[in-house]
Amino acid sequence: MAVVFSFLSVSVWAQTEKAPAYLNPNLPVNQRVDDLMKRMTLQEKIGQMCQYVGLEHVRESIKKLKGKNLKGDDQYGMYPHLSINDLKQLTREGKIGSFLHVKDAREANELQRLAMQSRLKIPLLLGIDAIHGHALIYGATVYPTQLSLSSSWDDSLLYQIAKATAAEVRATGMHWTFSPNVEIARDPRWGRTGETFGEDPFLVTRLGVDFTEGYQGNWGKNNILACAKHMTGGGEPFNGLNAAPLDASERRLRNVWLPPYKAQVEEAHVYTIMAAHNEISGTPCHENKFLLTDVLRNEWGFQGFVVSDWMDMERIYTLHHAAPSYDAAYRQSIEAGMDMHMHGPRFLKSVEKSVETGKLDEKYIDNAARKILYAKFKLGLFDSPFVNEKKAEKALFTPAHQKLALRAAREDIILLKNNGLLPLKGAKKILVTGPNANNQRILGDWAYRQPDDHVTTVYEGFKEIFSGAQVDFINSGESLLHPNDELLKKPVSKAAGYDAVIVVVGSNSLRYDDKEKNCGENVDRGTLNLMGNQLKLIKEIYAKNKNVVVVFVNGRPLAEPWIKKNIPAIIEAWEPGAFGGQAIAEVVKGTVNPSGKLTITIPYSVGQVHMIYNHLPSAYLHKYVDIPSSPLWHFGYGISYTTYKYAGLQLPKQVHLNDTITASVKVTNTGNRDGVEIVQLYIRDDYSTATRPVKELKAYQRVLLKKGETRTVTFHLPVAALAYYNAQSKYVVEPGTFTIMVGSSSRNKDLLKGKVLVIK
Ligand code: BGC
Repeated sequence: MAVVFSFLSVSVWAQTEKAPAYLNPNLPVNQRVDDLMKRMTLQEKIGQMCQYVGLEHVRESIKKLKGKNLKGDDQYGMYPHLSINDLKQLTREGKIGSFLHVKDAREANELQRLAMQSRLKIPLLLGIDAIHGHALIYGATVYPTQLSLSSSWDDSLLYQIAKATAAEVRATGMHWTFSPNVEIARDPRWGRTGETFGEDPFLVTRLGVDFTEGYQGNWGKNNILACAKHMTGGGEPFNGLNAAPLDASERRLRNVWLPPYKAQVEEAHVYTIMAAHNEISGTPCHENKFLLTDVLRNEWGFQGFVVSDWMDMERIYTLHHAAPSYDAAYRQSIEAGMDMHMHGPRFLKSVEKSVETGKLDEKYIDNAARKILYAKFKLGLFDSPFVNEKKAEKALFTPAHQKLALRAAREDIILLKNNGLLPLKGAKKILVTGPNANNQRILGDWAYRQPDDHVTTVYEGFKEIFSGAQVDFINSGESLLHPNDELLKKPVSKAAGYDAVIVVVGSNSLRYDDKEKNCGENVDRGTLNLMGNQLKLIKEIYAKNKNVVVVFVNGRPLAEPWIKKNIPAIIEAWEPGAFGGQAIAEVVKGTVNPSGKLTITIPYSVGQVHMIYNHLPSAYLHKYVDIPSSPLWHFGYGISYTTYKYAGLQLPKQVHLNDTITASVKVTNTGNRDGVEIVQLYIRDDYSTATRPVKELKAYQRVLLKKGETRTVTFHLPVAALAYYNAQSKYVVEPGTFTIMVGSSSRNKDLLKGKVLVIK
């Protein structure tokens, strides 16, 4: 089919006039862009900046929304005053440059066919939130969510997952993912916590770079554009609610929030950036010239384009009241550095009018259109806009991708507590229960329902892995928002008759389960305990049978000190993806030795928020009178079926500013099975002109140690990595002593410490 369509588009030109230069695939991309730009009207150029949701998505939304919601609701993708035919017509007229949320390869081709009917035959750039696999597409591979993936601390794994995701996205005719999310998650009430790589700027930076490099590669035919989002500050909304404001000094922005974006631009060469919903210190990010132009382009040299988030240009006017009209809001946003509008019809006419009346300089439109067109040429869309629909299906959920998803789930799972109950080798009778035991909640947010045979639920995983044993599932009720205590009776009454009971609890981030989800985008919380009757279920089962394993399947940290105190074995699985059930069962059985470590602090209760490991020195001068002042589980923590001993931290006494610190430590596997240990290196600046965190992660290594093996783990840390934005807002290393800490988690007792003097 693909051949037929490209042939058609070329032959139309052949009959009428000589094909224009920009359609010549042999010319350099910039020359093609120049040629095309010369031929475009103002309206066509603004058209490139316009993004809409796909036709099928609109159809679905219309079905969902009834009555007055159909007019006002902007959460779903639909356009109250536009029919599907109108959308098609706009595409034919070259008034749409991009779509998001296209359903499959068939729809992608349908849209491109419409675009090929436009005057200049400019292909569409199709974007989608393929943020942990191409999970909004039926039949795709769903990897663990970002927070889960980060628990592996495995750069090469993340790179490979992004690369594999890109191949699935591209095969379905799409070219751009709104990923990675490189926000720093500092408030677990925020429903999008699970969408991030956790709370640490350094780790988020590294893993974000891995993702973007995996997606974009060398812009080949299996690569896609990445989008670093959402710039910035959304992970610390002042009340825990998505899109709420952040107040932060420029120094804090540069020390905490901006490092991941800087590396995205300078190191990973990310081509697109999405602005954040929130405002920072009085300026909405969507009209923040400091962020989108001064820092992003002028300081870091960003060459790509910035896309708005869902209706956020409009919200400069309607929500923030920072513009007197839609027209002004669009102008302010564009002048600040915005290039593409997600999503909908109002933008084009308004911007056109602003340019025609001299209120907006056309240079902004030219710059934006040029960058968007550049991407379309470089991705090869002008030369081959269509995909083969049959091949697309085969490219999804391939054996290689399944293997990768299983590997990821195995590496991500974190064992938090084990008093000897695990591994459950000899169990003959196992009961699996709890609201997350036998459904697709292991997939997390930004996933649609997948074919049942693509997903191994936790119960299914146990049946498969403990095949010689009796494994029963008893439904305790799945609703977390409307729990039914009657349903607890059966699992509780049967619990005593089993060798062990696996209780799978947590949260529900499934976006298609609107009425029941309690986590995910726009699902924020004021508490952090297990919702519904989950704790009751655990307590009642524990009263009948002490051999309880609690498995958390959740998209944000949950604070349940009772479980930590009483339950003998606790597993944090986050949202481990399509093979999560299998991997959890393997960990419980011991065929997989767990190695994941927390990339976010789990607080003791919601009152501890913001409980982060890299807090400032004065944060805990005083203690709470009613709760502990240390977290429930520390950043970097996670145990294994073996044990490790750290000894002999070696450090140079003194280094110059342009030296490298070589730090080494001996790590011994002191238990009786092989394992992977994640060795972490933190620093503390002993004296600084502006206050600095008590610990800052600066390096980590995953190390495979055979039982009994000792290895010397060596870090080469450039002294430059100790820099920060100081009291004068200069990025410098301030000479003096630094404490270097190496160990198995950020908890003090897990760290060896030494001092290094940095001199000029
Ligand atoms: C989210 C973005 C996402 C976009 C498109 C917004 O609501 O904030 O992260 O990329 O929708 O789906």
